[in-house]
Amino acid sequence: DSRPHHILVTGGAGFIGANFVHWVAREQPDVRITVLDKLTYAGKRESLDGVPADRLTFVRGDICDAGLVETLLTEAAERDGAMVATGAISAMPPIDAIVHFAAESHNDNSILDATPFLRTNIDGTYVLLEAARRHGLRIHHISTDEVYGDLALDEPRKFTEASPYKPSSPYSASKAASDHLVRAWHRTYGVRATISNCSNNYGPYQHVEKFIPRQVTNVLAGIRPKLYGTGAAVRDWISVEDHCSAIWAILTRGRIGETYLVGADGEMSNIDVLRMILARMGRRPDDFDHVGDRPGGDKRYAIDATKITRELGWRPRHTDFAEGLDETIAWYRTHENWWIPDKQATEEKYRLQGH
Ligand code: NAD
Ligand code: DAU
Repeated sequence: DSRPHHILVTGGAGFIGANFVHWVAREQPDVRITVLDKLTYAGKRESLDGVPADRLTFVRGDICDAGLVETLLTEAAERDGAMVATGAISAMPPIDAIVHFAAESHNDNSILDATPFLRTNIDGTYVLLEAARRHGLRIHHISTDEVYGDLALDEPRKFTEASPYKPSSPYSASKAASDHLVRAWHRTYGVRATISNCSNNYGPYQHVEKFIPRQVTNVLAGIRPKLYGTGAAVRDWISVEDHCSAIWAILTRGRIGETYLVGADGEMSNIDVLRMILARMGRRPDDFDHVGDRPGGDKRYAIDATKITRELGWRPRHTDFAEGLDETIAWYRTHENWWIPDKQATEEKYRLQGH
C-alpha cells in the first residue's frame, strides 16, 4: 500500500496548502496531517479552521530550521511509541510522507527582494530533502510551470515534461533550482521523490496580492481593478480543487523520480479574465485602470497534461471557469474578515511599485 498514513504538509496555511489540507481531511478520512508553516504574510492559521482537531497538528515554524524539522519527525515517532506503550487506542502513525508546498510564491515580491525566495525555496527544500533522506520518507515537491519560462502568444506549443528549464523571474529561478535539487536527491541518494509543475490556480484562501483575488476584492472595496500592460498575457487557469486531486494521485500512484505537469486547458488572456470578473460583479467592461507591466513579465503559459491523464487517469473536474469564478467571487464576498486585514498594505505596496 503506497498510501501514506501521516503526511507532513509544509506551507499548509497558504493558499494551495490549506485547500489541500481541507481536501485530504474530506476525501481521505484515514490520513493524519501535520502542518509546518512559518505563517509569513502569506499564511493564516484561520485558513485551516474547520479541519477536525483530531486529524490535524499545526506547528508554526520554518522549513529552513533543520533542527526543528528533525525534532518534528523524531518526536512524532517517539510520541507514537509512547502512545502504543501506554496502550492508547488510536496511536498516531509516524509521518511517512512530506507534501512540500512552503514557498515564497509571488513574482512581484521576488522582483523587489529575492532574499527570502532563495532561502525558503532553495535552502528550505534542501532541508526537507535531507530529512526525507535520513528518515526514508516519501516526498512530493509542488512546483510551477513557470520554471519553463514563457511561450509566444501565437504558437501552438504547450509545456511538456520535456520542455527545457528557462525561468524568467527570481521566483521562478528559485523554484527551478528547487526542482533540480529534488531530482539530484532522487538520483544520488534514492530519495523517493516526485515533482508536479502546475499552472495558475484559483479558488478560496488565495492572497489578495494575486491577480484574481486582487481584482475581486478591489471591486468589493470600491477600488478600480488594475491590469498590467495591455492585458494580452495568457495564463492557463485551473481550479485549486483539481490541483489538489492531482497531487494526491501523484503522491499515491505516481512513479518515483518522475515529474508530472498539471493543467486543465484553461488558457485565457488577463484582460478576458478581468472583463469576466467585471461582468459577473455587475461592473462596466472598462471599469479598470491600466498600470505598469511587470518587468520581464512572462507572456503565456500553457500545459500539456497528457502524461498525468494517461498514466494516472487523473482528470480535472471543475472545468467550467465561469462557474468557478462565481464561486470564488462569492467566497471573497462572504469572507471579508479573512482578507480585509491584508488589503490596505497590499495595495500600498503595489502603489509604490507603480502597479
Ligand atoms: P502562498 O504564498 O499562498 O503560501 C505559501 C505558504 O508557505 C504560506 O502559508 C507561508 O506562511 C508558508 N511559508 C513561506 N515560507 C515558509 C518557510 N520558510 N517555512 C514554512 N512555511 C513557509 O503560496 P501558494 O500559492 O499556495 O503556493 C504553494 C506552492 O505551490 C508553492 O510552492 C508555489 O510555488 C506552488 N505553485 C503555486 C501556483 C499558484 O497558482 N498559486 C501554481 C503552481 C505552483
Ligand atoms: O503559473 C503558476 C504561477 O502562477 C505560480 O507559480 C505563482 O506562485 C503564482 O503567483 C502565479 O504566478 P503569476 O505571476 O502568473 O500570477 P499573478 O497572479 O501574480 O499574475 C497573473 C497575471 O496577471 C500576470 O500576467 C500579471 C497580471 N496581473 C497581476 C496582478 C497582481 C495584472 O494584470 N494585474 C494585477 O494586479
